This record gives sequence, structure tokens and C-alpha cells, in this order.
Amino acid sequence: MVKKDLLSVYDLSAKEVKSILTESLELKNSKKCLDVFRGKTLGLLLEKPSTRTMVSFAVAMTQLGGTSIFLNVEKMQRSRGESIHDTALVLSHYLDGLMVRAFKHSDVEEFAKYSTIPVINGLTDYEHPCQILADIMTIMELHRIKTVDSLKKIKIVYIGDSNNIANSLLAVAAILGLDLTIISPKEYSTKKEVLNKALKYTPSTGAEIKITSDVDAAKNADVIYTDVWISMGFEAEEKRRKKIFAPYQVNGELLKKVSSKCVVLHCRPAIRGEEITADIMDKYESSIFTEAANRLHAQKAILLHFMK
Ligand code: CP
Ligand code: NVA
Repeated sequence: MVKKDLLSVYDLSAKEVKSILTESLELKNSKKCLDVFRGKTLGLLLEKPSTRTMVSFAVAMTQLGGTSIFLNVEKMQRSRGESIHDTALVLSHYLDGLMVRAFKHSDVEEFAKYSTIPVINGLTDYEHPCQILADIMTIMELHRIKTVDSLKKIKIVYIGDSNNIANSLLAVAAILGLDLTIISPKEYSTKKEVLNKALKYTPSTGAEIKITSDVDAAKNADVIYTDVWISMGFEAEEKRRKKIFAPYQVNGELLKKVSSKCVVLHCRPAIRGEEITADIMDKYESSIFTEAANRLHAQKAILLHFMK
């Protein structure tokens, strides 16, 4: 069997996204533990910190009858210069799947190239596909949407840095034909090549994609989604970013524009008082926690799709 990797949301067809979302919701509702991965091990290779992704993947493997192993790059020979090529080949002999969180997207692509086992992107500077699958699942759950096709009537607004989260959200919107507005300051707007890739899908899927720097575009939003202004690896730009992103904060003023059924999402970790105010974080605690909790169910559906 040819192995399949999840490096980008674009590695999935609309049919596959729908199947993962349906399975995630079913797994959550049935609370089932399956025994499909007995004797199998997932490696969790992390170059950057993680709470949700690391733990939800580990627990997902346990609940599917398998096991997982944390691979801290600092403690591996990679930190002394062993190549990705050699590391990937060796790990492929021990493991049945590998989740990688890396600084550079190209490094995860290189792991996939040389591994003979499925490689799953657990976040890079370019995409965070597993997070976004859990987010769409969460939107369906919170808005009580039964079929993926009904998602099209939900206006999703992402506000903040056009980072890995925004890129993956854009990709899923393009593939499923969703209504997505991304609001970012011009300097940190979606890159041309990233947008062009998404726009290739819109004629066939009917996705409504809007990229703007105007916060008024949040009008009538059914979902407001934000993320940190300073992603991991961009700490050197902290001062500049805080100044430029200030008008793009999710706060009471912004939420005056949205629809009455609007929910707020944040992939976390969140910095209260920066991208989102503490009062809004508290007010929408339930939706933001559901989002984090759903990572577990989405990871199980992802593992079943790629490792079974
Ligand atoms: N949202 C998310 O990926 O969280 P972690 O960085 O804790 O994994
Ligand atoms: N954009 C954030 C997401 C963290 C889950 C980062 O890359 O740091």
C-alpha cells in the first residue's frame, strides 16, 4: 500500500475532509475506544513547544489501542547534525506513523519524502492542518450543523496574523466551498502564492474568499477566529507586531458587528490583552474549550484515515 502523508490541508480531497469530520463527530458522540492500532506506535517529534497537539495525539493513540513516543529533537542526534534523511529512514523501521512539529515546512516535507511511514504535520510556519480539521468540526458542533454542505451558509471571519492557522483555514474553505473572510493588516496579509492556490479551487467549489484589512468586514460574522500575533519563531518581531496588530484585537467593540449567533474561536495558546481581551475570552470560554477538547476526536479520525 502506498503511504499517504498529511502535510497540508491540500493533501485532502473534499470527500476526505468530509469523511474525517464525520468520523470525528461520531467518535466524540459514541465515546468509543477502538482496538485498531494494537502493537502500533506513533512518534511525536517536536522542535517547538506543544500542549494540545502533543497530548491529544498521544491520548488518541491510546484510545485507538496503540501507543506513542515523545521525540524531543534536543535529545536526538538531529540536534548534533544527523540529517532528516537518515533520521526519517531509521524512525521508519521502528514506528508506524510520525507526527512532526517543525519550524520549517520544508523540513516536514523532507521527513515525508524519506519516511516509509505516514507523516502528519503537527504545525509548521506554513500550515496547521490538524488544528483546522478540529476547528471545522467545532463550528459544525456549535452551530448544530449536520452536514458539511450546510457549512456554506456560515460566515467565518479570521482576524489577526495571516499565519499557519489562517493558511490552513483558507485551504479548507477553498476545498469545501466555505464563506471565509480574512482580516489582517496589509503587512501581514495572506501571501499571494497562498491565495492563488486557494483561488484555483473557488470556481469549482463556490468558496467565497475575501482578504481585507478592513475590520468592518467582520459584519454579520457567525464565527470569529483569532490566533496569537507572534507565532513561535517570530519572537524577534514582537515590538513591531504588537503595534501593527493593535486595531485587529478581538474585543467588545469588534463583537458589536457580528451576528447574534456568533461564536468565538482561538486555537490557543492565547495571550489575553493582545489578540483577544480577557472579558471576551471568558465570555466565550465554552466554545474555545470545546475547540481544544475536539482536537482529541479529530486526531483519532486523522490517525484512522492515515495509519489504518
Ligand atoms: N493549538 C495548538 O496547536 O496548541 P499547542 O501548541 O499546545 O499544540
Ligand atoms: N500560530 C501559532 C499557533 C500555535 C498553535 C504558532 O505558530 O505559534
